[in-house]
Amino acid sequence: MDWGMKNRMARIINPKTGRAVMLAFDHGYFLGPTHGLEVPRDTIAPLMPYADTIMLTRGVLRTSVDPDSGANVVLRVSGGTSIVGADLSNEGLTTSFKDAIKLNVAGVGISVFVGSDHERQTLLNLAELVNLGEEYGIPVLGITAVGKELEKRDARYLSLSCRICAELGTHIVKTYYCEEFEKVTGSCPAPIVIAGGPKLETEMDVFEITHSAIQQGAVGVDMGRNIWQNSHPVAMLRAVRSIVHENNNPKQAHDLYLSLKSDESRKIASA
Ligand code: R5P
Repeated sequence: MDWGMKNRMARIINPKTGRAVMLAFDHGYFLGPTHGLEVPRDTIAPLMPYADTIMLTRGVLRTSVDPDSGANVVLRVSGGTSIVGADLSNEGLTTSFKDAIKLNVAGVGISVFVGSDHERQTLLNLAELVNLGEEYGIPVLGITAVGKELEKRDARYLSLSCRICAELGTHIVKTYYCEEFEKVTGSCPAPIVIAGGPKLETEMDVFEITHSAIQQGAVGVDMGRNIWQNSHPVAMLRAVRSIVHENNNPKQAHDLYLSLKSDESRKIASA
């Protein structure tokens, strides 16, 4: 691996812990102003200090994150579909590599839709991005998207998708947590981070999937809604971070969440 590629990988996966806390704010690229992300700057600013990297589109980056904020960015570079359109899998590349370089990104991210009508197109988009990534020293995050078919998230399907991403040269794979997750990590030679998916019922559910994913070989998270749709997003992110980087168990993370949450409420009450 060349210096630039290694340097950028170290901005995403912390070399001290070998783990990654990525925070995803890219949902608007197909969901529009989704709940919790109506005004991106307001959502992103308080969370940024506790994320190793933020993941978002160039539009939100340029309008809603200050260039001197010190943020490490993984740029979403695929899209072209919307939640009300015919087919979420029909994605293309939305951002040139030149623009990603101008934005000094730590990495670029793209979705693939294995088994969909647009499987070939999305996989070839990923391969093309990896070619460019290797040329310019920029890691590529391959995202195993399922569109509206959330039921696809099982070990068989996710192992297939993750392995294909790794075979095409993806530097990091983002997928979902599932039962028998060790089958997914065990057959994917690239490091894996997990998305959170739609908001889970309880905070404990989020801590449990994060902890189990790490125990079963994931290097971290690239979460969105389960952090910033929570009523105490900073407490939530710091608790998830404590599992990823400090090996906290779900109960320790939950205790931390509760104590940060009550500190926050006290501050608001005394303001
Ligand atoms: C899809 O919208 C994006 O790839 C998200 O970045 C990804 O799903 C992670 O966000 P969440 O934890 O909300 O699923």
